[in-house]
Amino acid sequence: PAPGWTARADVVVVGSGVAGLTVALRHAELVPGAKVLVVTKDVLSAGSTRWAQGGIAAVLDPADSPEEHLDDTLVAGVGLCDLPAVRTLVTEGPPALRRLMARGARFDRDPAGDLQLTREGGHHRNRIVHAGGDATGAEVQRALVEAVRATGRIEIIEHALVLDLLKDAAGAACGITLHVMGEGARDGVGAVRADAVVLATGGMGQVYAATTNPLVSTGDGVALALRAGAVVRDLEFVQFHPTVLWLGPDATGQQPLVSEAVRGEGAVLLDAAGERFMLGVHELAELAPRDVVAKAIMRRMLETGAEHVHLDARHFGEEMWRTRFPTIYAVCREHGVDPVHEPIPVAPAAHYASGGVLTDPHGRTSVPGLYACGEVACTGVHGANRLASNSLLEGLVFAERIAADLAATRWAPGEPVDDGRPSGLVDPRARARVQGRMSAGAGVLRGAESLSEVARGLLDARWTPVAVEPCMEAWEATNLLTVATALVAAAGAREETRGSHWREDFPERDDARWLGHLDVTLGEEGP
Ligand code: SIN
Repeated sequence: PAPGWTARADVVVVGSGVAGLTVALRHAELVPGAKVLVVTKDVLSAGSTRWAQGGIAAVLDPADSPEEHLDDTLVAGVGLCDLPAVRTLVTEGPPALRRLMARGARFDRDPAGDLQLTREGGHHRNRIVHAGGDATGAEVQRALVEAVRATGRIEIIEHALVLDLLKDAAGAACGITLHVMGEGARDGVGAVRADAVVLATGGMGQVYAATTNPLVSTGDGVALALRAGAVVRDLEFVQFHPTVLWLGPDATGQQPLVSEAVRGEGAVLLDAAGERFMLGVHELAELAPRDVVAKAIMRRMLETGAEHVHLDARHFGEEMWRTRFPTIYAVCREHGVDPVHEPIPVAPAAHYASGGVLTDPHGRTSVPGLYACGEVACTGVHGANRLASNSLLEGLVFAERIAADLAATRWAPGEPVDDGRPSGLVDPRARARVQGRMSAGAGVLRGAESLSEVARGLLDARWTPVAVEPCMEAWEATNLLTVATALVAAAGAREETRGSHWREDFPERDDARWLGHLDVTLGEEGP
């Protein structure tokens, strides 16, 4: 059936976090007459950006250098980073950050008025700017939303879940279809025809039962890209954040993050016996790259039979907790933990997809006219494991590049060849089945047997007894199943341990066989 309504834009940006809003703002600046449309699944300020705590990594200290930031990023990425992309990130990061400040974002400063710089895992220098102590993402989101609204030239459709890409006869992107909920004349399934499409849909943390990601992070962009035949890369590299507040063995959904910056300011990890266990594991101890810390925590939990470890920052004292980490302090107190007087129970949880839709240095995907930016993209800067606080930075830097490329390119696609409406919707209940199975067998620890079991479980999860009513929950469950299936295939294929991909049956890194990437495409049997 044809879409119920059609809108028209020069560029449609899907997603409203740091990546999407920066593309929209910059494009509107570069091409003042352009019709830029931002569509977003929830309200403009929902999404992962606003949950970011630690900050944005950028070389601002004269004693630091882009070369050192580059080195730290490459070490964290364990051989799979794309060197030119990382060079772009570290050299274009500081000007992109300054532009964000010019757009209104305010970061914490010392009494002399200089930006305060802190450290996080894997960084050999203090180079993380932060806002509101531990509420950096909220400040970035606030500033960008206000800037977008202030232009008066960027159209926004909220409560609009993207369904599929529209392509012309030559295979170029020419728009998207959307399911819009409760937006007056544009209610229901509709289409946006556009010369170019920018995916900035964020991550896919909701494929797991416990994650730091908000409920909206259901891999919609990667699922759309897979259905559109775009190349998707490195999906097996899902980063598990080492220190997520432990809320009990059955906790599901979005879990509270305890920022790496807490360790950056001196907190230490203790096991069930109260022993510090990161000393001797890595020269940076608690500030080792994220995968090293997450694995050491898991190992210690397995050895001791404990369900979590502890993060001890009692020595900060109440004043520092309240001023430097007000968000984390409040969340801990809400859950009955007083970090001034007791160590915080923490365990790893799914946090960030280092892979995604493959892009070139200008953010172009393998489908002409389709761009990807932010967590949904695989620009090559993260390799097998993203360095802390490089994610907002990546969104900023590559958004600027995409806007510049859009301004310099005349995409002129033809008419769509079909109505861009995905078929094979699954029952919304598949969401919980996918999450349970993925956490059980494709989480921090995985092996051939557990992954085969998950793959079988995902086939079962596709089973849908009756025709499914198209609704947000069904679209999301379908997308989760699609990305989970692709992720499990990649994790099963990579028979080594590298970065955030930890195979129990192949515990070593194997450069002879695996110093390369895995590109995933959707199989015939895909949902
Ligand atoms: C954190 O604050 O620990 C998260 C930072 C990040 O994911 O880069």
